[in-house]
Amino acid sequence: MMKVTVSRKAHFNAAHRLYREDWSYEKNNSIFGKCNNPNFHGHNYELIVSVTGEIDPETGYVIDMKILKDIIKSEIEDVFDHKNLNIEVPEFKTLNPTAENMVVVIYDKLKRKINDSLELEVTLYETPRNFVSYSGL
Ligand code: NI
Repeated sequence: MMKVTVSRKAHFNAAHRLYREDWSYEKNNSIFGKCNNPNFHGHNYELIVSVTGEIDPETGYVIDMKILKDIIKSEIEDVFDHKNLNIEVPEFKTLNPTAENMVVVIYDKLKRKINDSLELEVTLYETPRNFVSYSGL
C-alpha cells in the first residue's frame, strides 16, 4: 500500500513558566532554572504537522492542505498565539507547559479533527535547536 506524508509548517508566539506549585522555589529553580521565572518568558514556537495516508485517487490528495491549514489555525494558532500558556490555555492550568507536554496537547487537538484513516505526527520547535515530536505512540 502506497502511503505519502504531507506536512505543513505553522508558527505561534507564547509565554510560559515551568514550575510545580508543590515544590519549593529552590527546588523549582534547581530543576527548571530560568524557565521558572515568576514573570514568565516567551518563545517563538515552530510547528510541523505531518499527515500520512494513501493518495485519494479522485483528488490526488492525502489531505486537502487548505483544510489542514484551517484546522491548525482554529485548533492551535487561535488558541496559543500571543497567549500566556499557564494562565490562558486551560490544558496547562495544572500541566507544566514544557515542549513535551505541549506537543501531546497539540497532537490531541489536531487528531480529533483529522480523519481516523490518516496518521498524524507533530513536531514542535521551542528554539531553533530544541524540538520534540509525538505521533500518538
Ligand atoms: Ni521556556
